[in-house]
Amino acid sequence: MNKAKAEAKPVLDRILTLEIVRVTERAAVAAARLRGRGDENAADQAAVDAMRRELNRLPIRGVVRIGEGERDEAPMLYIGEEVGTGEGMEVDIALDPLEGTTICAKDQPNSLAVIAMAEAGSLLNAPDIYMDKIGIGGGYPPGLVDLDASPADNLKALAKAKGVPVGEITACILDRPRHATIIEQVRSAGAGIRLIGDGDIAGIIHTTTPEETGIDIYLGIGGAPEGVLAAAALRCIGGQMQGRLVIDTDEKRKRAAAMGVSDFDRKYDMEDMASGDVVFAATGVTDGNLLSGVRFGKGEITTETLVMRSSTHTVRWIKAKHSALDKFE
Ligand code: FBP
Repeated sequence: MNKAKAEAKPVLDRILTLEIVRVTERAAVAAARLRGRGDENAADQAAVDAMRRELNRLPIRGVVRIGEGERDEAPMLYIGEEVGTGEGMEVDIALDPLEGTTICAKDQPNSLAVIAMAEAGSLLNAPDIYMDKIGIGGGYPPGLVDLDASPADNLKALAKAKGVPVGEITACILDRPRHATIIEQVRSAGAGIRLIGDGDIAGIIHTTTPEETGIDIYLGIGGAPEGVLAAAALRCIGGQMQGRLVIDTDEKRKRAAAMGVSDFDRKYDMEDMASGDVVFAATGVTDGNLLSGVRFGKGEITTETLVMRSSTHTVRWIKAKHSALDKFE
């Protein structure tokens, strides 16, 4: 790990740490109004609209680096879109207004509104393709696990460092047919698996608090944009992560090249995906292990947000009661 990069100086205006909470709160409330309605697109669109509105009130010159997709496929919050008032510091933005659209549509656990802001030039410009990922929480020796090692070796190393038998380790893996082999390997090694339907940003963040979530390690293939957001989160809260883009067709090679990727097999460390000073916020849309979802009460709305910053490693849980409900219209 490049320590100099990991311990970046505070560069971002610290007020942004609180300002971005409003951004994810608005998106989460908009999505939560459509929670459990079975309409993924409507919930996603509502979150996108709300996040964009709020982002454009921030005194920043922001550029969306990880967004809703490439310009021709995403009318809003597309990669390259400029957001903010156009005054203030230049920042790179990675966002997912509704992470876990299906989870939200079914009102299942761990759907989030997510954003990360970093100094300009410090987020990986990842195309919207898959990424192979491995992540663990903080407090372990650097390089303890490796994307290129076998699941059995990684689990053995992790169990040894944690001081428990492999049988007491739990891996989080997306429940997808593409993971049949890795699921088999993890089970043969003796570890348990929490299979999740969606939402690997939450899955990776959950490795940082195994005592609360019961998850020690994240393994497997999910979205590359979600990989960058998870790396931004782990930079702030502590942990280790590696990722490699899954580039298996000419079309993906072209898309990756268009975004500046030249080494298609590169193994990215957490700091390669999110370096410098980073702030990260996630507001719960549905109830989850770390955050409760939005609650609608008479005359008030309650939200819960996790917000943190890499340069100080401050982690805040902000439970907010909103009574100026017109702000959420
Ligand atoms: P959406 O919010 O875009 O639906 O993404 C949910 C998600 O589960 C991500 O957390 C994950 O990285 C990705 O989808 C996995 O992709 P796929 O569903 O194609 O396996």
